Amino acid sequence: MKNKELRIKYQLSDDISELRAEDQELMRRAREALKGAYAPYSGFQVGAAVRLANGEIFIGSNQENASLPAGLCAERVALYAANAAYPDVPVEALAISVHNPKEPHLQPATPCGPCRQVLEEAEQRFGQEFPIILGGDGSQLLILPNASTLLPLAFHADFLKKDSPS
Ligand code: THU
Repeated sequence: MKNKELRIKYQLSDDISELRAEDQELMRRAREALKGAYAPYSGFQVGAAVRLANGEIFIGSNQENASLPAGLCAERVALYAANAAYPDVPVEALAISVHNPKEPHLQPATPCGPCRQVLEEAEQRFGQEFPIILGGDGSQLLILPNASTLLPLAFHADFLKKDSPS
């Protein structure tokens, strides 16, 4: 038996000016996208902004439903819209922001499990990693270098192929 170990690296910042100008803009767009959240059940508003390699930005916000599983997270709304409009253009960066009017001063929140799976596939399908920048109400930012940091040992397309162990 072999012992294996996985380590992850990520960054914390308290100063948005430490980000590249285009990533500062992406976080601004994610914060703005919060306004489109439909979250009457949880009260937890999420905004997301995706920048593609062609410079186009797509936004999304969480969309809840009385039939709870029918709702969709903000990052998937944004990613699917981007991929539907430009199926051949890789994702360059993703910013996500959270806010709850009844719980001021929220810290950045990391994406849920199904979103991690979708982010992972967005990297795999284009063979290109992208940073994920997370923000809350304050100045704190959490920056992940790529999706696989969020989902080590992920399930991916190669497992669907016969005779091709990953
Ligand atoms: N939510 C997101 O939009 N993204 C995530 O990664 C985590 C959760 C939404 C789903 C639901 O509308 C609310 O936050 C509370 O779970």
